[in-house]
Amino acid sequence: MANKRQSANAIKFYEAKSAEYDGNWHDEFTRRFLSYLDIRGGQNVLDLACGTGLLTFLLADKVGKSGSVVGVDVTPGMLAIAGQKKMLGGDKYGNVSLHRADVLHLDETDALNGKAFDVITVASALVLFPDPKAAIEHWSTYLKPGGILAVDATHPRNLISGMVLERVARRLDLPVPYNRAWSQSESTLQAMLESAGLKVESVFTVDSQAGYGRRFHDIDKWDDFFVETVIVKDVMRTFASNDIRRKAQGIYKEEWEKLAIDGKVEEVDAVFLGIARKREYTACAISTKARLTIWQLPMEQDMYQRSMSTASSSRVAVAVDLSSTRRPSHRQKSPCVTAGRANICQAQHTCLSYPSRRAL
Ligand SMILES: C[S@@+](CC[C@H](N)C(=O)[O-])C[C@H]1O[C@@H](n2cnc3c(N)ncnc32)[C@H](O)[C@@H]1O
Repeated sequence: MANKRQSANAIKFYEAKSAEYDGNWHDEFTRRFLSYLDIRGGQNVLDLACGTGLLTFLLADKVGKSGSVVGVDVTPGMLAIAGQKKMLGGDKYGNVSLHRADVLHLDETDALNGKAFDVITVASALVLFPDPKAAIEHWSTYLKPGGILAVDATHPRNLISGMVLERVARRLDLPVPYNRAWSQSESTLQAMLESAGLKVESVFTVDSQAGYGRRFHDIDKWDDFFVETVIVKDVMRTFASNDIRRKAQGIYKEEWEKLAIDGKVEEVDAVFLGIARKREYTACAISTKARLTIWQLPMEQDMYQRSMSTASSSRVAVAVDLSSTRRPSHRQKSPCVTAGRANICQAQHTCLSYPSRRAL
């Protein structure tokens, strides 16, 4: 997984913001985020990059005493505020535990060892990670089969000055605390979730994240945004040297102007929200007469190992995606083809009709 540079930058960035994080649009957005999820009493939820716990405690109310919510964040100041809320809530929030950890290295947190959750939430954070696919794959290992991951990603025109700043930093090869260039549409979020092996249930656009909807800035206002984002809010001191700041100023203007249409730069206050499910697999014994090959699908590692050790010489183990709704393909000449989704369907078909349909 990723090295620790991302978390070190995030700490610098959010430590400075933590005291004033609550009490603005984040509160309402986390309420809306929750409203799209079907959280039930008794569920166990992992809230990653939980920050001050805005979503964590809403989730805790939903799962109730018989459920649990684990919040994880790396920034001490953010987590300290979440800790105060837990303390003030007393018994009511006995179902919440908070851990200071890097969500890209969850294996370093003993409290999470061997744990699997019904739901994982990642609100307003996916675009902070340099390799979102690897991050989602990592998080998915903490989901139960069939469990849900809910995550949002920024509309490319949301917080437009941040988008320009990212372009400037990349051109100058400087660190930037987010990575949002990949997030272009509902489809890019869908593709990201699928590439990480999840089955997407829905992806949709949530408008008016911070309440302004759409607005237009004059092309010559670039300087105001430059001063605000590159000078005033440069908590990481990335642009502190005069030389870098001068270069950044020219590039900022250039990138800002590229976004203008008819002298106006449009800002769109929206995010894409994706809800995806971890696939449920089982392993079945299938006669080698069917000449099936073994596909190493992203199944549970221990199940794969068990199936390999139990499979006799006349059988092979096949991972079957039980959540697939695709019909088996009967048009294939042989089930023994090399790869692809049709193979999985064929295997599922064979498996389901196998008399003992024995999970290994
Ligand atoms: C925009 S805040 C979102 C907080 C919360 N999810 C919410 O919706 O209010 C982003 C959070 O991600 C956290 N964060 C960033 N990188 C992290 C990492 N590698 N591990 C854990 N937390 C991280 C920051 O500390 C910050 O609290």
